[in-house]
Amino acid sequence: MDREKIMKAAELLRAGKLVAFPTETVYGLGADASNPEALQKIFKAKGRPADHPIIVHLKDASQLPEWVAEIPDNAARLAKEFWPGPLTLILKKASHVDDLITGGQDTIGVRVPKHDIAQALLQTFGGALAAPSANRYGRISPTTAAAVHEELGSAVDMVLEGGQCEVGLESTIVDMTGEHPAILRPGMITSTQIAAVLNQEIATQKKNSPRVSGSLESHYAPITRMRIVHAANIQAYLQDLPSHSLPMIVLSFSDLDAPQVRMPQSPREYAHDLYRVLREADQGQFKQIIVEAVPNTPEWDAIRDRLQRAAFIAPEPE
Ligand code: TXA
Ligand code: MG
Repeated sequence: MDREKIMKAAELLRAGKLVAFPTETVYGLGADASNPEALQKIFKAKGRPADHPIIVHLKDASQLPEWVAEIPDNAARLAKEFWPGPLTLILKKASHVDDLITGGQDTIGVRVPKHDIAQALLQTFGGALAAPSANRYGRISPTTAAAVHEELGSAVDMVLEGGQCEVGLESTIVDMTGEHPAILRPGMITSTQIAAVLNQEIATQKKNSPRVSGSLESHYAPITRMRIVHAANIQAYLQDLPSHSLPMIVLSFSDLDAPQVRMPQSPREYAHDLYRVLREADQGQFKQIIVEAVPNTPEWDAIRDRLQRAAFIAPEPE
């Protein structure tokens, strides 16, 4: 790791600038969480609506009391089990927390990332970092530094290079402020794992609400039209494709007699590759991206969720 780059990044953050950095999930667009002017820049750089809350990244759980009003036992249990790691907890916010972070709500999303560079940056900087994914609003999250440059260009003051993100999908978000814990966004830490730690069933919130920007239906989306097709129907679907849908590419598990990317059978590897593969297929060379449907089991929840959002086609304006 390049210590000098980390020092430089921390200095920029202290001066209210934006620094993109790798985490184990996706690259984040970081700003000093206690500097409202720096927070404003995040919204501008991403083109993101102002009422969308931002996750605050901490170096460890010892910083929690500075940002939240209370730490319920269940939240402490999840933090102990999964931090550092790809889990975001929604808790009641401490009174000083800026509306730009919370979207004007009385809750805050917090997480402790597990990545050497994210950790070094947080420790050198000393404070907390507000960081949404480092993409333009509504687009696929970046899992490489090159993808951050592609998304944000000169809108970001510095990008820390950290290779390809290990997890590859955004963190699991669990709301701990209701009567029962609820998953607002599935991630690679599954509802089954969370239920096992808390010894209770965990609901996944189905309805869409702007509380979680990723819960808007069309999100994490490529520009190219994308369709999810069940394995049994792929051959027929390909045969019936009109010529204006060509050329196309298929992301599938099995070998097909068609242009394709073979996707891994394991959810861990699939998640790791997905955004990179989608981004590569979304350079304008194809008219359509066809994705073989993934299994209907909890360990595929996060992948299924992101694929469905990416394939959502907004209704034509009247
Ligand atoms: O893995 C991740 O979580 C990545 C890395 C960079 O840490 N970050 C990320 O941030 O995905 P972003 O902003 O792209 O998505 C964060 C989600 C948003 O959908 C936001 O609405 C939700 O977290 N969120 C943040 N604070 C919240 C709150 N107080 N209540 C409900 N949802 C919240
Ligand atoms: Mg995002």
